[in-house]
Amino acid sequence: MKNKIPAQATWGGGFSNGPHPLMVQFGESVSFDARLAPFDIAGSKAQAAMLAHVGIITEAERDAIHAGLDAILGEIEAGVFQWETALEDVHMNIEQALTKRVPAAAKLHTARSRNDQVATDMRLFFKDAAARAAAELRALLAVVVGLAEQWQAVLVPGYTHLQRAQPVSAAHHFLAYAEMFGRDLARFGEFAERANICPLGSGAIAGTTLPVDREFAAAQLGFVDTAGKPRLTANSMDAVADRDLFIEFAAHCALCGVHFSRVAEDMILWGSAEFGFAELPEGFTTGSSLMPQKKNPDSLELLRGKSARLQGNLHTLLTLTKGLPLTYNRDLQEDKPPVFDSLDTLLLCLAVLRETLRGLRLRPERCAAAVADPLLLATDLADYLVRRGVPFREAHHAVGAAVALAGKTGVPLDKLSLAQVRDIHAAFGEDWASVFDLRTAMLAREKTGMPGPGQVAAQIAAWKTRLAKEMLSE
Ligand code: ARG
Repeated sequence: MKNKIPAQATWGGGFSNGPHPLMVQFGESVSFDARLAPFDIAGSKAQAAMLAHVGIITEAERDAIHAGLDAILGEIEAGVFQWETALEDVHMNIEQALTKRVPAAAKLHTARSRNDQVATDMRLFFKDAAARAAAELRALLAVVVGLAEQWQAVLVPGYTHLQRAQPVSAAHHFLAYAEMFGRDLARFGEFAERANICPLGSGAIAGTTLPVDREFAAAQLGFVDTAGKPRLTANSMDAVADRDLFIEFAAHCALCGVHFSRVAEDMILWGSAEFGFAELPEGFTTGSSLMPQKKNPDSLELLRGKSARLQGNLHTLLTLTKGLPLTYNRDLQEDKPPVFDSLDTLLLCLAVLRETLRGLRLRPERCAAAVADPLLLATDLADYLVRRGVPFREAHHAVGAAVALAGKTGVPLDKLSLAQVRDIHAAFGEDWASVFDLRTAMLAREKTGMPGPGQVAAQIAAWKTRLAKEMLSE
């Protein structure tokens, strides 16, 4: 029999020929999973250590395998390793390269399948990815909290329905962003906890008949609890079929993307001539090739755009997984590009947002002009009536009538005469217009979570303490 294409080196024993060239091109994943190499090598070293520990290979064989894997990692990091598409994926590329150098490597795949191998690689990847996302979020939070501190004295209108609602400090607005990204940070921490479970030893689907020590391998790889006790997956079928972490990771990235997209939208508005609350850093804006006056907020627009990609990746993973029978199916090879893209996109977006915000300058005079609108304190005026014994619904009505009168007569709400407001409701006193003092209005909002200056200062201090603690534990 003519054997033109050599049978596949690792699994080709029962095949007379290698795969069709189109199948090689179609089935390869090394073009994207090569980035798993450090995790794959860590997993293989743990596997070799475990095999030696239970006496399946000798210590000399283990040491030769370890040295060979270290050398391969060095070549990969130096960019000189020869990746071969015909060897499909990162796992077989590394195993084949090792086998060429170290005869004992032929024993490395004992009691292991690529199914538990890739599951292990990805859990190691996810622990690392979560730490990287968390580090970026902390750096972003430091800038956001810094902005809050810097602009504590500036008041801006807060908006609902994109209509001016009530005055808040710019700091309170920025601290809302800190809450959003703080939740993302917590999510990645919880996610890392769930990733911290070792599937190695699950084999292809049903474990192995060989006397492996799963706890030993798990401990080697750092899949341990705070007391150092190994954490293992409990069901070999689920261990190789489960892609929850992929979906969760993409979901956390997508949700973080929703957050940075909303921040971006706010800052696009604030930077517009219409709002004029902020000036965006030149380095993150671009000009127009036609209109010389333009300074477009491209970094913020791209952040809004890239958040769509993060949602797309989540959707890809949900759809990829939903119809699959247990356990591993080759479809699952498609699980990695969206995850890698989500990580890369997220890290870059968080860095770009951080630097865009770092260069943001508020325009206090424009903020002051906008927040001086007395209508922003219409609710405070209703509260004034409430303090004078008027039921809130009635007070709301009375102030509504005053607002309508101001609109009709073209007089600012706070400049109506005492006679005019008394005519609307007898409970208005001589001091009725005192509520329009912004300082008083802010000082009146000092309960937990409110935008009063004391509250805001306390929140800034709390964030700084939290971030300092987080940085220490990084
Ligand atoms: N490259 C494969 C993937 O990422 C590795 C697992 C292959 N397993 C298999 N039974 N063909 O899914």
